[in-house]
Amino acid sequence: MTEARNSAVPAGIRSAEELKQAPEEYQLAIRKIVRSHAVNELYGAQVFDEPAIALAPTPYAKWLTCRVAMEEYGHHVRFRELGEQIGVPAAELTPEGRQPLSIFAFPLASWEEFCVIKLLADLAEILQVEDLLHCTFHPLRNLARMTMPEERFHAQFGKDFCIELCRTAEGRARVQAAIDRVFPLLPAFFGQSGSRNNVLYRQFGIKQRSNEEMRADYIARARALVEEQLQLKLPAVAEAA
Ligand SMILES: [Fe+2]
Ligand SMILES: [Fe+2]
Repeated sequence: MTEARNSAVPAGIRSAEELKQAPEEYQLAIRKIVRSHAVNELYGAQVFDEPAIALAPTPYAKWLTCRVAMEEYGHHVRFRELGEQIGVPAAELTPEGRQPLSIFAFPLASWEEFCVIKLLADLAEILQVEDLLHCTFHPLRNLARMTMPEERFHAQFGKDFCIELCRTAEGRARVQAAIDRVFPLLPAFFGQSGSRNNVLYRQFGIKQRSNEEMRADYIARARALVEEQLQLKLPAVAEAA
């Protein structure tokens, strides 16, 4: 947060066209971030949100899950469009042939697990999107501002259904078991501590916070949700990645 802003980059880059005038390193950084969002949004929609429609226990839950799946596919579509505008090759904008982040390898098998993924993985996504709300590349900043209310809805969806499940002793035990399986995969979502790329992103005003700062904030927010709101236990995880 303390690094001086790189003076080679203007305070605001308003379009894909203007991006072509920015330093090559800045352009590469933007392409990398947009590509990773496009890939992760599609991964999540394919392995979690769409299959969860079949797991949802009631027509009401299926209806809301359809909305979540629609929005996650929509996020992919928007990040993909931006990726295409800024010259990311189409093959790099989908998960095919890529090593997934560990969370996407989680074998979703139950409705409780899906609710916990929305509660905790979408909270991680909210932190990532929050960090882009003041990004110097305005098309990316605008996309973050557009998707943010939907990510908040997904996390709220997870919280509401987890609270409902926790009304019975059996439901509480199943939600706790899902948290124990899902949560340990999530701190790695924030990338390596001491990342050189991340220093560059902050110097360029693309991102605001370091990976380790975001990870610590995430764990604190996840703990407040799980322990204060749900009255369950957040498993201990290593903070360093
Ligand atoms: Fe999303
Ligand atoms: Fe989401």
